[in-house]
Amino acid sequence: MPKDIVCSGIRPTGNLHLGNYCGALKNFVKMQDEYDCYFFIADYHSLTTHPTPDNLYQNARQILIQYLAAGLDPERATIYFQSDLPETIELYLFFNMNAYLGELERVTSFKDKVRQNPNNVNAGLLTYPTLMAADILIHKATKVPVGKDQEQHLEMTRTFAQRFNNMYGAEVFPLPQAFNFGTDLVKIPALNGTGKMGKSEGEASTIFLTDEPSVIRKKIMKAKSDSGPTMMNQPKPEEIENLFALMRVVSSKDTVDYFDDLYNRCQIRYGDMKKQLAEDMVVFIEPLRQRILEIGSDDLALRRIIDLGKEKARVSAAATIHEVRHVIGYRN
Ligand code: TRP
Repeated sequence: MPKDIVCSGIRPTGNLHLGNYCGALKNFVKMQDEYDCYFFIADYHSLTTHPTPDNLYQNARQILIQYLAAGLDPERATIYFQSDLPETIELYLFFNMNAYLGELERVTSFKDKVRQNPNNVNAGLLTYPTLMAADILIHKATKVPVGKDQEQHLEMTRTFAQRFNNMYGAEVFPLPQAFNFGTDLVKIPALNGTGKMGKSEGEASTIFLTDEPSVIRKKIMKAKSDSGPTMMNQPKPEEIENLFALMRVVSSKDTVDYFDDLYNRCQIRYGDMKKQLAEDMVVFIEPLRQRILEIGSDDLALRRIIDLGKEKARVSAAATIHEVRHVIGYRN
């Protein structure tokens, strides 16, 4: 039986962090054995925010390096730059011909961007969902591992796929679904006491895979805590629960139990707990950081990986475009 096809993209807006690593990346690594996987770096989507040429390339390259360091395998999965797949753009054009202004204007992420940046409401932003649909449907992917914030984009992908199929009376495209491999993702909290680790909570609250030990120590020692429990065996306030959640990711069970017990007996000293957390975090992140440096220093090997990804991605994309052109009526 043919394997299900998985496709996911990431915008290269910065370094990957512990939340990415424990969530999406761990799942991607598991998926590459079960499915036919296409993981790409969305360096066309990047243009909506007008990066400089050097930033565009360096940011995309850095994400690729971090994917590889996290265990994605260019042999088992297809890992590529979106800009190496011009077929995507052709499909994007076809979808744009049948995407309505009204439905594009109603997309929440578009409305947010208009509000945040009223002077840069470009057509690329408006057609973000048709480009994303092209990314996914160019491989006829059925499973798309993305977070809740992408649900609406995925809904539009299904709309464009269905519309195309109806229009030409052909079952060209599947209707892809959001997908989480296995059970619930571990939620990695930010260091500022609220919210998830990630861009929105700021760099000081986020542990990046590229953070040096001294940076990790500094960030964790500054993490939000409080003056400590005053009654035995009480539930923990959010910022304290968050420290424990991070500890459960990087420390041994004995260590977590030790501090949990001190907490319940009102004898915890958060300075001590954070020191331990910082050391365990360093042990967790440092091998990844070293891998990133190592992979990043071998430009030739990286080139080969980029070429391999491009080659593999284009096989699937070319087949789809061939079929689509025929169905639309091109005979040249
Ligand atoms: N829109 C996604 C995000 O912001 C990135 C993305 C672009 C994507 N194309 C995709 C994700 C295709 C999954 C499939 O995170």
